[in-house]
Amino acid sequence: MTDTLFTPATLCKLQLKNRVVMAPMTRSRATGNVPNALMEKYYGLRAAAGLIITEGTSPSPNGLGYARIPGLFSSGQVAGWRKVTDAVHGAGGKIFVQLMHTGRVSHPANMAAGTRIVAPSAVALAGDMWTDSNGMQPYPVPSEMSEEDIATAIAEYANAAKLAIEARFDGVELHAANGYLIDQFLNTATNQRTDKWGGSVENRIRFAVEVAKAAAAEIGAERIGMRISPYGVFNGAAPDAKMDALYLRLVEELNTIGLVYIHVVDHSSMGAPEVSPELKAKIRANFKGKYILSGGYNAARANADLDAQKGDLVAFGRPFISNPDLVAKLQSGAALTPPDMSTFYTPGEKGYTDY
Ligand SMILES: Cc1cc2nc3c(=O)[nH]c(=O)nc-3n(C[C@H](O)[C@H](O)[C@H](O)COP(=O)(O)O)c2cc1C
Repeated sequence: MTDTLFTPATLCKLQLKNRVVMAPMTRSRATGNVPNALMEKYYGLRAAAGLIITEGTSPSPNGLGYARIPGLFSSGQVAGWRKVTDAVHGAGGKIFVQLMHTGRVSHPANMAAGTRIVAPSAVALAGDMWTDSNGMQPYPVPSEMSEEDIATAIAEYANAAKLAIEARFDGVELHAANGYLIDQFLNTATNQRTDKWGGSVENRIRFAVEVAKAAAAEIGAERIGMRISPYGVFNGAAPDAKMDALYLRLVEELNTIGLVYIHVVDHSSMGAPEVSPELKAKIRANFKGKYILSGGYNAARANADLDAQKGDLVAFGRPFISNPDLVAKLQSGAALTPPDMSTFYTPGEKGYTDY
């Protein structure tokens, strides 16, 4: 086995000490939607990663669909995140914030007064979600976004990108995967619009592209990455006949804007359908920035895929939950502690900072 995973890499002007990325993971410890001391400790303990990508963080009060997820639109949230970034930088790490607007994946019981559940089309997600006040509740029908709602949401992403720099993040990852707001525009299962934001490939990528442009105008494209999930089925996303064309066209636009990386989700290790290897290879060949692989990796597979030039960096999710010292363990070959799924999203330090 080679050691490519443990060699330094660059992300535009950023020096990464290794190619291990901590994958973005919602952990629902941000009571009141504000990052706190527990989160500062959690991320600080994992700073041996070359790059940490935070849990999904909402750029808007309307995007806080899950219980206890953090936001990045208020001064209190900037102050809370600054403690997290200082802890990571103090321990020699780098950290991007993942901007996740939940869109229709939401429930009023999880949201503050005066907020709205918005999505490209008024199509409810099938099933139920957790609320702290009423347990499991069915997903509501979201409001179809007006032109003004779309302009507001784009501006909210740009504002969150600006606040990310104030909070001393090294950059932002736009979450365009897994059935959240940007993906809700990309996917025909959730986007039934007949205006310039829906229908054709060109129209469905428009929201993702406009968000990326607006964020780049605030902080520079070299500090922005995007996560995508072609062929994903999470949160009601569904493949369609134009899926390859859509992602290849999106990548072309992201090249023009100059995004620093693309991060491709593959949840086949979690039971999801396989992501077309041909499409992954084409995205790799066409995208000019760095490519982050993810999904079910161990050190051997990571090194093999890096050596085969399938990507530049490799993200690890679940192993980081239960192994704060994951990089050292991957390097030494020590056995990994298995994660306890029952505490993935529960409040408090149990299953969070006590591994
Ligand atoms: C508890 C948990 C929370 C997650 N939250 C997010 C999230 O907020 N944003 C995201 O893009 N992916 C999220 N994911 C997906 C992970 O980033 C990753 O793609 C997935 O766990 C597969 O990688 P792994 O096999 O290394 O765990 C989450 C996964 C888990 C297990």
